[in-house]
Amino acid sequence: MKKSLDEHAERFSDHADAYDEDQDSAAYRACVNFVVDHAAPESDDVVLDLGTGTGAIAFALASDAAEIIGRDISDGMLEKAREKADGRGVENVSFGDGRFRAPNVDRPVDIVTSNFAMHHLGDDEKREAIDTIADLGPRRIVLGDVMLFGDDDPDAPFYSPEVDDPATVGVLADAFTDAGYALTAVEMVTEQAGVLVAERVKSD
Ligand SMILES: C[S@@+](CC[C@H](N)C(=O)[O-])C[C@H]1O[C@@H](n2cnc3c(N)ncnc32)[C@H](O)[C@@H]1O
Repeated sequence: MKKSLDEHAERFSDHADAYDEDQDSAAYRACVNFVVDHAAPESDDVVLDLGTGTGAIAFALASDAAEIIGRDISDGMLEKAREKADGRGVENVSFGDGRFRAPNVDRPVDIVTSNFAMHHLGDDEKREAIDTIADLGPRRIVLGDVMLFGDDDPDAPFYSPEVDDPATVGVLADAFTDAGYALTAVEMVTEQAGVLVAERVKSD
């Protein structure tokens, strides 16, 4: 990880007021749409959205699921998310402190989503994160993120080498497989951003 969690949290809190307006790229919207479409919760599902930020994924899924739990490290982003929930009258979403390797969730969840957040972790930390998520027992994990389909290009969108640490798609696929999940869809949005869908492998 190129910066500490506290530094990342502060960076996002400083940017929280402008965050939603700044997410105007076609690639960001495409990743959000893929994450939401592939998450496809049932009406009785509990969904955990990690690195929820101001709740883009959480709100998009709220009307389809029983409950959405949003977790993030940035107080400023969480405050914005709560303001939006109040303003929109959405009652089945909750937002609180939690991180990939310590999500602060003490019960099983059905689906885990995450969009553009895990790439701040180093590769070994991503593995730990995926193992931690798997321990919550979701049948599906949908990860939208900066990820490398080819060679890295710091000049291309979504990758700032000073703060980001994107994994190759291969590293992520291995981590999901080792945690007991099989990739069932891979959506390449750009050469440096995409969405992976992992389903729990049923053991007999
Ligand atoms: C680029 S924003 C994405 C927000 C939202 N998922 C979206 O799609 O708009 C990244 C978010 O991840 C959070 N974040 C970064 N590292 C994290 C970690 N280790 N655990 C939980 N959240 C983290 C940041 O605070 C920030 O709110």
